[in-house]
Amino acid sequence: MAVRIIGTGSYLPKNVADNNFLSTIVDTDDEWIQQRTGIKERHLSGGKEGTTYMATQAAEAALESADIDAEELDMIIVATVSADTYVPSTSCSVQGNIGASRATCFDINAACSGFLFALNTAYAYIEMGMAKTILIAGAETLSREVDWSDRSSCILFGDGAGAAIVRKEEGESGGFLASVTGSDGSQGEVLTCKGRGIQNPFHHSKRRKDYIHMDGQAVFRFAVTTVPRCIKQILKKTELDTEDIKYFILHQANERIIELIAKRLKISMGKFPMNLDRYGNTSSASIPILLDELNRNDLLERGDKIILSGFGGGLTWGAVLIEW
Ligand code: ACO
Repeated sequence: MAVRIIGTGSYLPKNVADNNFLSTIVDTDDEWIQQRTGIKERHLSGGKEGTTYMATQAAEAALESADIDAEELDMIIVATVSADTYVPSTSCSVQGNIGASRATCFDINAACSGFLFALNTAYAYIEMGMAKTILIAGAETLSREVDWSDRSSCILFGDGAGAAIVRKEEGESGGFLASVTGSDGSQGEVLTCKGRGIQNPFHHSKRRKDYIHMDGQAVFRFAVTTVPRCIKQILKKTELDTEDIKYFILHQANERIIELIAKRLKISMGKFPMNLDRYGNTSSASIPILLDELNRNDLLERGDKIILSGFGGGLTWGAVLIEW
């Protein structure tokens, strides 16, 4: 029995904002952004392209790629930190939109590690025999969570969604092989988006909606120490070597972070595909969008071993090893 990804999909909003466009909004320039982050442009919602809309588009593309009907889905798990509504969950709204009437649906919040944690959750449900076919997605409208007057953060993020179909296949080998995850709530203040204060008959908070705040250098240090560590852990656990891995598909936060991780692991940059130059950091959507691009460009072959690794707010992190 193997638990495999049998289809992928993604959606990016139509509006593209390049660095020069951002320099008309905040005091920044293309050279600074490219040098510090590698980002050239990002896609931003035009309004109708909210988290549910984008997740639905990505889900439909993934169903088509897997060549299955929505009614075959036992479960839908959407990872997001920027849902359109608290209730219903994004996954329930996606279910309604695609007609997956048999599916049980819930969202998870693990920030930029969200898609990875959704993949782990799907694997666990399938392994326990509680589901056979699961749609997982990462979808974010971060442009609604960003302070557009803060040049140190608004230049980093973009909107988008990616999805995958995970299915139990009898008589197959490969698929999901191993996972390493972790969290550290004691460092939560390093990257926050605090939402609303408490307003009730007992308490009147002055706090209104908050935006993404980040200690950029602390996040940088966290990423370049934690990701190499968990990649080493997963290789040790599976008795594999870096040469056995075709691609390391990392959360697309910053080119300099990925370069330093590659250097620390002594792995060539050719094994670290990137698309953050075009999309910026789309949090939980970045890994499935990149996975879908590789899949659609026929860069993944049956039997390839790939490591997916996410890191982000919470703090949260993880790596998953799959055989395509
Ligand atoms: N344009 C021009 N100048 C800027 C900008 C900007 N957009 N933003 C900050 N600056 C200035 C600062 O004001 C500062 O000026 P000063 O020296 O006169 O005070 C100078 O540039 C350096 O600022 P730093 O914050 O020290 O810049 P740093 O080199 O650390 O780069 C960055 C900032 C890109 C955010 C970096 O810390 C980083 O990559 N951190 C990782 C965080 C990340 O990628 N987060 C993504 C979200 S989290 C996640 O996905 C896990």
